[in-house]
Amino acid sequence: MQYPFVIAIDGPAGAGKSTLGARLATRLDYLYFDTGVMYRALTLAAMQAGLELHDQAAVEALATRIVIEVTPPTHDDGRQYTVLTDGNDVTWPIRSPEVEAQVSLVASYPGVRRELVRQQQAIGHRGRVVMVGRDIGTIVMPEAELKIFLATSLDERARRRLHEQRDLPHLPPVTQVRASLARRDDLDQHVLHPADDAVILNTDGRSPDEEVAWIMAYLARPT
Ligand code: DC
Repeated sequence: MQYPFVIAIDGPAGAGKSTLGARLATRLDYLYFDTGVMYRALTLAAMQAGLELHDQAAVEALATRIVIEVTPPTHDDGRQYTVLTDGNDVTWPIRSPEVEAQVSLVASYPGVRRELVRQQQAIGHRGRVVMVGRDIGTIVMPEAELKIFLATSLDERARRRLHEQRDLPHLPPVTQVRASLARRDDLDQHVLHPADDAVILNTDGRSPDEEVAWIMAYLARPT
């Protein structure tokens, strides 16, 4: 079967995009590219450079200067990929709560989006890639043959987030996790809408394996 050159997976925070994207890429022997890491890497670099994150011009200028690379995992420590900024491994630091709290602001700057989208497109145009983000189907790769938009309820996303964190010594109350996801939805709203030709996949009550099976069946459907 001829699989799509590019597969776009978009959706809100906590919908399970990265788990699904990584599994689907493995299944198809495609590159898995989580575009959110670029916004996170830039946010961390701006913080480390001591920039005032509300200084839009300074953050946009930094976006054009720093070199962000995403490579296959270089360590066997549970990572799905390695992220480098100017050659430094930032794979885990970009997941910190400090970055989490600021990344939506940085991702809202048009100059940042212009630069990072351009870099994402260069990778997408090589093909055989599953690209995960918010605006892949609408802005980054509108020509992708398969666009999936994950629709997952806030309650289900909060439940999954808590499950992921179940080994932490102090679990936050579900109301707090829910509120923080709702805040992220608000901040990301400007990029968070499905392309007109996206397939909406409701993942409530579906496991990642079931989601992959659903997509494989969708790709195999008679056209
Ligand atoms: O998916 P994530 O949580 O790693 O995304 C981090 C931030 O980057 C989030 O605020 C949304 C933003 N983002 C974006 O605006 N466009 C993308 N293609 C991917 C992420």
